[in-house]
Amino acid sequence: MLVKIHKDTDLLNCFLDDVELSLKLAQSEADIVKRVSDSLALLLGKRDREWLPDKFLRPGSGKYSQYPLYIAPAGTFCVTALAFKPGASTGVHNHRVWGVVGVYRGIEDQTFYKKVPEGGLRCAGGMICEPGDCSYLLPPEEEIHDVKNPTGDCSVSIHVYGADIARVPRQAYCLETGATTTVFSKYEAI
Ligand SMILES: [Fe+2]
Repeated sequence: MLVKIHKDTDLLNCFLDDVELSLKLAQSEADIVKRVSDSLALLLGKRDREWLPDKFLRPGSGKYSQYPLYIAPAGTFCVTALAFKPGASTGVHNHRVWGVVGVYRGIEDQTFYKKVPEGGLRCAGGMICEPGDCSYLLPPEEEIHDVKNPTGDCSVSIHVYGADIARVPRQAYCLETGATTTVFSKYEAI
């Protein structure tokens, strides 16, 4: 599914071509996230062309909304835009597939976690991401994070995953109780 981007389709199409090429050329998933991060940083460097239409910049009824921009027909990857309300957080969750995240607008605060052998999670660092900054998710060791918009304005980030993420059963973690819940990403209707 390719969602029509009316402002500047060429930029998104070039990025999608780059991702396809990365999938063909990469020697490992670590190589994929490196290549896709470089491509996404280039795309985000062209934010002044406002290639992401306004309808993807506003969260819907929930604390944040995930809009599908492209889902590869074979389900090999997808590109989505996440729009966060001020102060909104995803909560701690894993991905089970590789991912690359880059900020399009606003500020986002990411905290990373790792599983510990005795059970539970430990904090494994974090980063404050400004527009153009990219980070990655790489199972099985580096795939758990929490994304928060710490500001009083909406934020928007572009997320690229190695599958149609809405079809991947994933885990949400409660740090207080250690409980896990199986969750599926939900795409906002456009
Ligand atoms: Fe995530």
